[in-house]
Amino acid sequence: MIDAKRLLILGGTGEAAALAHRLGRLPGLDIVTSLAGRTRAPAAVPGEMRSGGFGGVEGLESYLAERHMDFVVDATHPFAARITANAATACAKAGIPRLVLTRPPWQPHKSDRWVRVADDRAAAQTLAELGRRVFLSIGRQDLTPFAGLRGIWFLVRTIDEPAAPLPLENYEVILGRGPFAAEAEAALMREHGIAVLLSKNSGGQATYGKIEAARRLGLPVVMIDRPALPDGSVVQSVDEAAVWVEARCAPPP
Ligand SMILES: NC(=O)c1ccc[n+]([C@@H]2O[C@H](COP(=O)([O-])OP(=O)(O)OC[C@H]3O[C@@H](n4cnc5c(N)ncnc54)[C@H](OP(=O)(O)O)[C@@H]3O)[C@@H](O)[C@H]2O)c1
Repeated sequence: MIDAKRLLILGGTGEAAALAHRLGRLPGLDIVTSLAGRTRAPAAVPGEMRSGGFGGVEGLESYLAERHMDFVVDATHPFAARITANAATACAKAGIPRLVLTRPPWQPHKSDRWVRVADDRAAAQTLAELGRRVFLSIGRQDLTPFAGLRGIWFLVRTIDEPAAPLPLENYEVILGRGPFAAEAEAALMREHGIAVLLSKNSGGQATYGKIEAARRLGLPVVMIDRPALPDGSVVQSVDEAAVWVEARCAPPP
């Protein structure tokens, strides 16, 4: 009997969960989905689930060896740059095939007013020129780059209540978990007199409503571009990732 192949999915996205569901019944494949451990009650997926950091490149390398992983699909969020870099290095050192599954970035429409910036710092510099009431919906990341901005009011949306006061001069927090419809996003922006939207170019449908709403309201969007990916194979759909895995599980002819 041939030993089952072992796949590590680096998760935390809908695509990672969809891949585990898609491959869950593939004979001869054992799947482990890894989460960072930020979400309180993550939805169960087929296969084993683990949670929490590995301890940098060395920790991940040890994990891959100890758990006899045959390949890795990095399906983390496009802005989760550290784990993606760590996975690239650890897999290269261990000689383990690795695939990045990342959803396509959003593209501007003709009537969109995007100001594209490379990172948070550039976004902070650009914001002040565009408006004084900002809708900030950029996830759980560090807000320090925006801390020095004076005379700007932020509407900050987070999934969980922030554990500590945010380092912003003037703000209000609202809680919400996507998907968000464009109509509701437009109503929210109108209600709060939003003048500019700050967004990461996450791609996908779940958080696209705010982009559509800004277009409808004619508002500028400061759009933070994605960090560059390390070298290696990249696909943009769950189907393509599944084909990549299936090809590695097929018995030799
Ligand atoms: N960044 C976003 O906007 C965003 C949005 C939605 C979902 N997420 C998801 O949330 C997680 C954390 O995002 P982040 O931006 O904080 O990541 P990050 O900055 O790239 O990673 C920070 C550290 O968290 C640990 N980590 C991250 N993803 C992990 C995973 N899937 N399994 C085990 N450990 C993981 C690693 O710790 P060690 O070095 O100790 O291994 C990593 O060095 C990711 O899994 C990502 O898919 C992120």
